[in-house]
Amino acid sequence: MATTTATVSEVTPSLRLRPRNDEEAKAIEEYRYSHLLPHFSQDRYPPLQPFDHVDPGHRALTLPNPRAFLDGATRTAELTPRLGTEVTGINLAELDSSGRDQLALEVARRGLVVFRDQQDFIDRGPDFYREWGRHFGRLHIHPTSGHPAGYPEVHLVYRDANSTFNFEIDESVTTTSWHSDVSYELQPPGLTTFFLLSSPDTGGDTLFTSQVSTLRRLSPQFIAFLRTLKAVHSGFEQADFSRSGRRGATVRREPVEHIHPVVRRHPVTGEEALYVNKQFTRRIVGLKREESETILKFLFDHIDKSADNQARVKWRPHTVVLWDNRITAHTAIVDFKETGERRHGARITPQAERPIPALDGLDLNA
Ligand SMILES: [Fe+2]
Repeated sequence: MATTTATVSEVTPSLRLRPRNDEEAKAIEEYRYSHLLPHFSQDRYPPLQPFDHVDPGHRALTLPNPRAFLDGATRTAELTPRLGTEVTGINLAELDSSGRDQLALEVARRGLVVFRDQQDFIDRGPDFYREWGRHFGRLHIHPTSGHPAGYPEVHLVYRDANSTFNFEIDESVTTTSWHSDVSYELQPPGLTTFFLLSSPDTGGDTLFTSQVSTLRRLSPQFIAFLRTLKAVHSGFEQADFSRSGRRGATVRREPVEHIHPVVRRHPVTGEEALYVNKQFTRRIVGLKREESETILKFLFDHIDKSADNQARVKWRPHTVVLWDNRITAHTAIVDFKETGERRHGARITPQAERPIPALDGLDLNA
């Protein structure tokens, strides 16, 4: 596997989280996770290079019991029939290599797995986060987001009473913005780990949807047509957002666009999933503009309103959530602005394979 090509400079001061007065300085000093506050370095990264991804879920397929890692759980509960499992009683940080392989397979099957009571995992810190994530693939380094100083592989979300460093667009009637993370990359993420270091008392939940289920709800004829299509996913708007002065105002790698199949196949489970999202998918290749807009609008609306495919994660302290970005979409819910509470989260985002078309032979280079 090729190593990352990003260059990492020495620590430079955070551009925004400088205390403005003694009171703020004291609050930062006293914050348990102040070492993980967002930092916006002025580093510049070269384009990402392709690499061979070997999915850890494959290794678990050969085991007699690929769910043995859950044997110590005190409780497992399916969040919905189609998506999501909640687990208590497992210490993720203690999973060995085989346990992590099994976890990858379980997340591929359920789309979303929520682990409660993971303070050990969260408190092990950024060196551990990197070691954890590298088991699952090459770690993605985000081109624009904040990261802990010295740890560009750890993507941060952050909002408090004075600042926000998220890709949030205020001009909509809702903060709902469905996406699969950085789907504009040639090799977008697979298994993804996310946790909150600080969260509002209530609000700031995350909504997920199964893109396997959204696809299955469509008619066989329409699915057959979608399998023949590919779409452009773009990182340009996200870069423009930063270039306009928001989110730390830093673009460390030039934005890219890539073409992906509209229906992709999971490399381990073989399941087909819809792979378009409103945040990053711009147009369907080869269709007239109105045709592309009409189909994408229909699919985005279908994703939006199909509560029967969705699961909502309510964050409690020390929760770690894993999802498979290849077969799910998600959206933050920003419903706590008025309280001014801090919401601070970290994501570890291994990249996976270039999306595999559900239709054999679909040419993605055209
Ligand atoms: Fe996301």
